[in-house]
Amino acid sequence: MKEVKNITVLGAGAMGAQIAALAAEAGYKVTVRDIKQEFLDKGRKLMTEAWDKRVKRGEFTAEKKEELLGRLSFVVNVKEAVKNADLVIEAVPEVMDLKKAVAKEVSEVAPDDMVFATNTSSLSIAEIASAAKHPDRVVGTHYFNPPSFMPLLEIVHGKMTSADAIQVAETAAKAMRRTVIHVVDVPGFVANRIFCVMSNESDWAIAHNEAKTALEVDSALKYKLGLPMGLLELEDTLTNGVIDVEYHVMEYFAETLDPSYKPAPLLESLYKSKNYGRKTGKGYYDWTDGKTNEIPMNAGANFDPICVLACGVNESAKLLEIKATTRDEVDIAVQLGLNFPRGILRMADSEGIDNIVNELNRLYTTYKDERYKPSPVLTKMVAENKLGRKTGEGFYSYGFGKFEFVKYTTNKETKVTRLVLNRPARANSLNLDFVAEISQVLDEVENDNNVRCIVISGAGSNFCGGADVSAFASGKADNVLKFSDYGQTLYTRMEVYPKPIIAAINGAAIGGGLELALACDIRIMNKKALLRFPELTLGLIPGWGGTQRAIRLIGGTHAKEMVLLADAVTPEKALEWGLVNFVAELDKFEAMVDEVSKKLANGAPLAQKMAKSLLYYGAQGDQRTGAFIETEAAASLSLTKDLNEGITSLFSRRAPKFKGQ
Ligand SMILES: NC(=O)c1ccc[n+]([C@@H]2O[C@H](COP(=O)([O-])OP(=O)(O)OC[C@H]3O[C@@H](n4cnc5c(N)ncnc54)[C@H](O)[C@@H]3O)[C@@H](O)[C@H]2O)c1
Repeated sequence: MKEVKNITVLGAGAMGAQIAALAAEAGYKVTVRDIKQEFLDKGRKLMTEAWDKRVKRGEFTAEKKEELLGRLSFVVNVKEAVKNADLVIEAVPEVMDLKKAVAKEVSEVAPDDMVFATNTSSLSIAEIASAAKHPDRVVGTHYFNPPSFMPLLEIVHGKMTSADAIQVAETAAKAMRRTVIHVVDVPGFVANRIFCVMSNESDWAIAHNEAKTALEVDSALKYKLGLPMGLLELEDTLTNGVIDVEYHVMEYFAETLDPSYKPAPLLESLYKSKNYGRKTGKGYYDWTDGKTNEIPMNAGANFDPICVLACGVNESAKLLEIKATTRDEVDIAVQLGLNFPRGILRMADSEGIDNIVNELNRLYTTYKDERYKPSPVLTKMVAENKLGRKTGEGFYSYGFGKFEFVKYTTNKETKVTRLVLNRPARANSLNLDFVAEISQVLDEVENDNNVRCIVISGAGSNFCGGADVSAFASGKADNVLKFSDYGQTLYTRMEVYPKPIIAAINGAAIGGGLELALACDIRIMNKKALLRFPELTLGLIPGWGGTQRAIRLIGGTHAKEMVLLADAVTPEKALEWGLVNFVAELDKFEAMVDEVSKKLANGAPLAQKMAKSLLYYGAQGDQRTGAFIETEAAASLSLTKDLNEGITSLFSRRAPKFKGQ
């Protein structure tokens, strides 16, 4: 593979400047080329200001900034700019003729083995490549804006792109801290194909009178589907408005995929009246007063966003059908490129592939538009009963050891299972599937004699950010009840679970996440973590046993302070109140978790099991009943081998070896 030392970025605009900065940060020598010195100066200013901010935030030193600037040169002359380039990244305006002219001009003066990477977000790589001297050296590298927050990079393989060019692009991208996905040269690639179709479909829902307003659709997408923002609002606000871009993309899809992909009526009228979103003051919403738009939760109560989801899933399936990309890459693309809370194919599995196909068939029969026709990938899955989570197989497999949201490993030596809440991009917040997976891990290790203690912690910097609010947005009391019941059932089970469970609170434990910690037997908190019940600030109550456990653990005074004031509880206060058992400095936290978990794992399993039940049930009734059940329990334990071992070891002055018998 060709080694890359020198990168040339063409265009010092919004994307070019940021890409050049990433390349300099990765250690490359970078030349930036634009058509006028003033554009280069503007680009240099953009980079310097961004680095200045990072110096101010203490992310790196002023010397480091100077070093980065020293790696950059800015030139107008194209020959000068590319004469030593190993990799050229083109970020000139999105106009096919211009891209082709640039590809031709550059390939004629650059070294023959230079790789030409185009940052086009929608144009055909093959067509751009057709203008270059060596079309096999042309590849798509689609960065997302702003690259400092959006690590996704789509590497787009044109018809002629060579494996070497792809590898060169990928190696440089990884050095530039990108998460790479691969896709062949199809309209919209992956992320924009799904985003543009789903946004256009949100608009069609209004045209079809399935929803009345943009607000209604956006509310349902945001609160019911859990997207960070409604897609119409996103069109208004993404880089200050992309309605003009969306319109052109949908026209392009209509030309290249099927005429039924044409821009939806409202999109068309907004485009034609030059209302492109926030940048023009108006789009789907009115931004003239400059305010952030507010989308009320209950506005979408009567609209089911499954029609939008189903179309997004169908587009993804169509990409898989032609092997343009893979299942995992689709799901990475929507999470990192569109900020979806989970992969769209994971969402499809939860929704049920049969429900997705039924919805597509309903849309197809009602509106007769070709784009609604379910992809054979989906219909085949239904025929094979691969319906998603409910049948154990969908786009992904489910069942023993196969999880989306949790990870667990058991240390055979210590007999401790570490269960990690693994949804770091969403602060490990819990939804129904997540709660079900925790429960499944408990099922899997319950009768495993090699597991004596479970430690729960969170991936990344949070323990658990609480419960997903989507159930509350459904507008259906039944759903809220089901959601509450799920959490209540799991947490009560944990209290009487036969093995000790530790909450290793490595970061914020909020709402339902704090309730999870309270249902554990021992809580160890690091000094950077915090505990909080924010529910009352949202008009909710802690609904997974939080009020009940808090009052039993810390008494009325502190429990009321926590729940009613809804303020964060610091580690010091938590320890003083008895809300946690131990607090450790950050660097001693893991060692403390290890020590306590090992101690519990070496304990007497039957007695632990009994003690947990006694402590739980004892607290429910009066003291005399408690004393009675305690006596009964003590009597039954007296017959166990473990008791024999415990007493024998005491008198033999050695550590006991309990077997749970
Ligand atoms: N802005 C985004 O959100 C975004 C996101 C992903 C991809 N893209 C893609 O990145 C590319 C650039 O977009 P942008 O937003 O940075 O545009 P921009 O208009 O901010 O910058 C383009 C720059 O290219 C310069 N330029 C024009 N002709 C040139 C030439 N022949 N050689 C060198 N420079 C030339 C212009 O003077 C300008 O400074 C487009 O293909 C766009 O689709 C943009």
